[in-house]
Amino acid sequence: MTQINAHYLKLQGSYLFSTIGKKVAAYKEAHPSQKVISLGIGDVSQPLVPAVVKALRAAVDEMGNADTFRGYGPEQGYSFLREAIAKADYQARNIAIDKDEIFISDGAKSDVANFQELFSSQVKVALQDPVYPVYLDTNVMAGRTGVFQEGRFTNLIYLSCTEENNFMPQIPAEHADIIYLCSPNNPTGAALNREQLTSWVKYAQANESIILYDSAYEAYITQPKIPHSIYEIAGAEKVAVEFRSFSKTAGFTGTRCAYTVVPRGVQVKDEQGSTHSLRDLWLRRQTTKFNGVPYIVQRGAEAVYSEKGQAQIRAVILQYMQNAHIILEALKTAGIRAFGGENAPYIWLKTPGGLKSWDFFEILLENAQVVGTPGVGFGQCGEGYFRLTAFNTPQLTQEAAARITQLKF
Ligand code: MLT
Repeated sequence: MTQINAHYLKLQGSYLFSTIGKKVAAYKEAHPSQKVISLGIGDVSQPLVPAVVKALRAAVDEMGNADTFRGYGPEQGYSFLREAIAKADYQARNIAIDKDEIFISDGAKSDVANFQELFSSQVKVALQDPVYPVYLDTNVMAGRTGVFQEGRFTNLIYLSCTEENNFMPQIPAEHADIIYLCSPNNPTGAALNREQLTSWVKYAQANESIILYDSAYEAYITQPKIPHSIYEIAGAEKVAVEFRSFSKTAGFTGTRCAYTVVPRGVQVKDEQGSTHSLRDLWLRRQTTKFNGVPYIVQRGAEAVYSEKGQAQIRAVILQYMQNAHIILEALKTAGIRAFGGENAPYIWLKTPGGLKSWDFFEILLENAQVVGTPGVGFGQCGEGYFRLTAFNTPQLTQEAAARITQLKF
């Protein structure tokens, strides 16, 4: 029989959100009359904004016309979208990123999952705990981790993010080659300020490491002390790759469009010590394995940067942040300690009465018909915590909040 990649067998359970999906489906089947509200997976509820819909429609018409039809597009993404991104998300903030350093993709999840394959299987990886499971699982699949012991993999550097350190990753004493940072953070909602991010960039410079910076929730930043891009920090353009997405910014979770910035200044070395451009290697990878995001979708994403598009997406983001406020207030009323929700659409709460994360999940589902995400699903440090998202509709968020305040622990 054909042998499989043995590293896959080290993966723990199934992907977190599919486990939750199965549990919720079973509950709904057993209780068909109950109205379940999901504050679980971070999936948006609001439709695409009118400016985006208009652009998508126009692009569909172009594709249906022999004169304007397009086949394969550039693997890196169309120039019109890369230019719009470079201008609005970087140059407008005095960051010198140009369009050729930007790669359009079908999602930050796939990019952040795929990016690790550019590095040797021997590199030492550091990641936050709790953590977005994709960073960990893809490194397990690639064989960079040792065995799973007492809730953690050996041969990995876990950056414990706890209430004591305000859920902020601390600089490790040891050397890491690759560091995954997610800010604003999924799942805790914590966001690195300028000073904290500067120490990470300095660490990466001193250690010749690379930071994989997941900034998918950048649009939710409200405080001026929080940088919107790692490239706001001097020197980051030589040590960091940034992942951004239209999913949570513009409701593209089902439409699929994101981008990754790989500045020309980021260099990596081979076994002999010769240097190579990481950007060129990523381009090589993408041209081989990816055929680009649909033209229609890229036109939709471009419309996000129009004046109307910006005003419309900001209104939706504001609505989600109002949901976050509603959830935070409800938790306060229920006497539950909560964090996040200020620069991120995620609320991270301490389970009442020292309940384990999955026990709280069951209680919330059984007694309030509200779905959330058990903190322990994001790592050992998440045990005893729980995540709620602000992405549902205002009406259902209000209802979920009211149900939560009525719970007795
Ligand atoms: C989440 O709930 O953490 C997100 O939906 C995951 C994702 O964006 O892939």
